[in-house]
Amino acid sequence: MSESPALPVILDRASPTPLAVQLAEELRAAAGDGRLRSGDRLPSTRALAVQLNVSRTVTAAAYEQLHAEGWITGKHGSGTYVTTAPPGSPRARPRVVPTGADEGSAVDLRPGSPWVEGIDRSAWRRAWRGAADAGPMSRPVRAGLAGYRAVIAEHLLRHRGLRVNEALDGFADGEGESVLATSGTTAAVTELAAAVLKRGDVVAVEEPGYQRAVDTMRAAGLRVLPAPVDADGLLPGAVPAGTKVVYCSPAHQYPLGRRMSAARRVELVARARREGWLVIEDDYDGELRYDVAPLPLLAALAPDVVVHLGTTSKILTPALGIGWMVAPPPIIAAVLAYRDATGTSPAAAGQLVLVELARNGDLGRHLRRLRRELSDRRTLLVDALIQADIPYLGDDAGAHLVIPVPTAEAERTLITDGHTHGILLDGLARHHAARPTWFGVALGYAACSRTQLTTTIPSLLSLLARATSHDGQSSTTNHSARSAGGSASAAERIPRKRNRPEDTGR
Ligand SMILES: Cc1ncc(COP(=O)(O)O)c(C=O)c1O
Repeated sequence: MSESPALPVILDRASPTPLAVQLAEELRAAAGDGRLRSGDRLPSTRALAVQLNVSRTVTAAAYEQLHAEGWITGKHGSGTYVTTAPPGSPRARPRVVPTGADEGSAVDLRPGSPWVEGIDRSAWRRAWRGAADAGPMSRPVRAGLAGYRAVIAEHLLRHRGLRVNEALDGFADGEGESVLATSGTTAAVTELAAAVLKRGDVVAVEEPGYQRAVDTMRAAGLRVLPAPVDADGLLPGAVPAGTKVVYCSPAHQYPLGRRMSAARRVELVARARREGWLVIEDDYDGELRYDVAPLPLLAALAPDVVVHLGTTSKILTPALGIGWMVAPPPIIAAVLAYRDATGTSPAAAGQLVLVELARNGDLGRHLRRLRRELSDRRTLLVDALIQADIPYLGDDAGAHLVIPVPTAEAERTLITDGHTHGILLDGLARHHAARPTWFGVALGYAACSRTQLTTTIPSLLSLLARATSHDGQSSTTNHSARSAGGSASAAERIPRKRNRPEDTGR
């Protein structure tokens, strides 16, 4: 049993409703919406009367009423406690999920969450214990811990083919680093907006694209303009005039899942140099790639104009709150000056844990297992889609692929039907900064369990078959990167949305 939390009870003395009735209603509401929980101890009628500046008759009458209704219980002298809401009361009903499924038991196929189930718990514990051995630090390290930056330099070299300044020692904090610790991608975008850009600066963002970055930049006063993508990635020629920054996700375009072609990468950075753009390369799941050759990072092609952002959100957990930034020296200096001025730094705990995971060899083991597991899951899904003749794209990398559907209505119906069948789906429409032009679902296959994925596939396929057949086109010609040997060309054979009026009416 716990003492009740301080309750914001508001009584309206000018109201014709008696104070005791108002008080009972306030407490009933608090018990109904969870501010008061079963077992919470309420103040005595005397204490509550003093607190609310009312007579004790008011509080006693309110308690008596709630007692009669079954909301509270208690014997004279031993305290008054909240019970569970009485059966049949409207407030006693659980939160209604607007579907046939309850969110807790539904299979979550929305992209976003990583395969945390696969993190070896003893390795995890070992890393946290090792991190604790580092002992308390007397001050934060603005650039991130040297050991962490060394691990990231090694990670980038081994897994992303990017060589960054390895002379991490020997530089005073803030001088000469080309890799910084961050608190994750979104936090890094906030820092760049504050440290490097001015309010009103134009940022071109892939459309559809990563709306959390869009919202972050808008909140910082930047002007976000959509830049269309095609099968090869963001179209440099369509970047709006006056753009200062281009934000893109070349390794696995979010949310469509395509990879930016090598030629497009070269064209983008050449144009960035000519036009004076800074390019932000969001490499959120670049470590995950299947059956295709690696492509050069934008940061490797043009370290002078690219800010590369990485994160552990997809390979471990976003709850660790760590990432990294590789950027030209003036940007690094501006971010460090901003951290200094605002007294902010990425927290050390997550960095220490990653260092320990790397030192024990557990990071490498985890990445190998993660790739194997996600590769198997992707094969499971892709084989089923091919068999059912359902077109898809974006399966070369990452932990999600995309099923386009012809209209906004088809997307909405698919998501609602998914809910009814206990499958949580994420629509493409919400990933647009302007009027939606792509409809469909992004299917994430990391967050659920393998068993859930396997058992859900049959109902998923029948929902997808219904949704994708709405456009009247046969879905017989167009499968995947896998069956066709190249995502860009295969993606072009995906039946595209039609620009009917209802397509853009979201
Ligand atoms: C496109 C994209 N970028 C970056 C991230 C990671 O962001 P953070 O490091 O802030 O968790 C995500 C995570 O969902 C993402 O989808």
